[in-house]
Amino acid sequence: MNSRPKKIVCIGAGYVGGPTMAVIAARCPDVQVMVLDLNAERIAAWNSDNLPVFEPGLREIVRQVRGRNLHFHPQAQGVSALAEADVVFISVQTPTKTTGEGAGKASDLQYVEACALLIAEHARGHTIVVEKSTMPVRAAERIQQILSTTQAGSTFAVLSNPEFLAEGTAIRDLEHPDRVLIGGEDPAAVAALKSIYASWVSPEKILTTGLWSAELSKLAANAFLAQRVSSINSLSALCEKTGAEVSEVAKVVGADSRIGPKFLQASVGFGGSCFQKDLLSLIYLCEHYALPEVAAYWQGVVDINEWQKRRFAEAVQQASVNRRVAVLGLAFKKDTNDFRESASLSVCRRLLQSGLEVIAYDPRVDGQRFAAELASPSHFSIATTAAQALAGAGAVAVLTEWDEFRSIPWATAKLSPGAVICDGRNIVDRLAVQQAGYGLRVIGSAVP
Ligand code: UDX
Repeated sequence: MNSRPKKIVCIGAGYVGGPTMAVIAARCPDVQVMVLDLNAERIAAWNSDNLPVFEPGLREIVRQVRGRNLHFHPQAQGVSALAEADVVFISVQTPTKTTGEGAGKASDLQYVEACALLIAEHARGHTIVVEKSTMPVRAAERIQQILSTTQAGSTFAVLSNPEFLAEGTAIRDLEHPDRVLIGGEDPAAVAALKSIYASWVSPEKILTTGLWSAELSKLAANAFLAQRVSSINSLSALCEKTGAEVSEVAKVVGADSRIGPKFLQASVGFGGSCFQKDLLSLIYLCEHYALPEVAAYWQGVVDINEWQKRRFAEAVQQASVNRRVAVLGLAFKKDTNDFRESASLSVCRRLLQSGLEVIAYDPRVDGQRFAAELASPSHFSIATTAAQALAGAGAVAVLTEWDEFRSIPWATAKLSPGAVICDGRNIVDRLAVQQAGYGLRVIGSAVP
């Protein structure tokens, strides 16, 4: 089959599945798109005005296409659609395994395997099955194996089509991608999926590769991005010792067109649901294929990130003039309410462990949900404004680069006298802090 698919089903209505299907539905009005999820509450939210994912532009697109050619259904009710689907996307979570072989590193494929089983059971005729979730290399083999257990005589082609969107810019990334990647061994299936993206992406940006290359490319892209952050973060420590400014170094290094300026912003450490998970998955694969040197190389990227978070927490601890620390920012980056693997989680845990009291403010993160992730939340509280968090604090830890933290009125902040502001994002107005008479420590800078 190389004709244009008419019916698409996506299993998984999360950060990737929901926005991706919304954009496909908007750009391909001739294609019916159905999104299924085991979580009926999440589906209800997709069908409401209060979408479960906040992304600029998403609401407008969903309003435009929902009920037209985009439909959200709980899995139990919508599963029969698999029989008629030309293409089924698997877009479910692949978290790091917590138990069994590879625990702490390997990706847990149980949700993907459950999808493959469901497809094997319900699909009819010929179906293209697309890995949208980030998978370890050769995961498609396992999917193919499960699909082959079908009792209905159905046939399948498995493709890898990893998603490169970043949170906060999902719609822009989907509408104007740097590239779309389709990996597969079946030319007709590749052409069919390509015809969907070709509705709005120019052909030279649609890259086709073998299946294993596509699976590895997604892990590799995230590993490279994370490696850039760890590289600049490693140098941030050297800058602090030598008097060099990390932002100046990053600017000069990034001006080389072979290197480029992006992902060279020193920070308290990268977070988010992807970088660490994908690095660990890559490391596990290298170990599995007996490549300890390669595993050690990428492990270094993870280690620097852990070290960066730890040394920042220690600096805050040492700087504080009393037991009360104000934390500004819980999200793993600005413009999202997501705090998965955020540097804040790690820094807050350390501060609490060392017996400090933490009062935190974030403009978007649900503080109660954040607190639930802390082992000892009894000395953790949430402020509803930055000013409230700052009152009486002996140290301030700036952990997310929210715009409002760039212009905190330090002169009127009621910090404890002699309090020290520890800027983990290099965004604080240095002059304003100095004029207010507080101490300042900035990641990657020896100033003041
Ligand atoms: C990432 C990839 O960018 C995306 O392509 C992939 O599909 C999913 O993973 P995301 O996790 O949404 O996207 O966030 P991203 O914007 O990449 O930032 C990741 C982390 O790195 C954040 O904590 C961010 O603050 C940090 N970061 C990023 C830095 O510390 N410095 C930088 O220069 C860039």
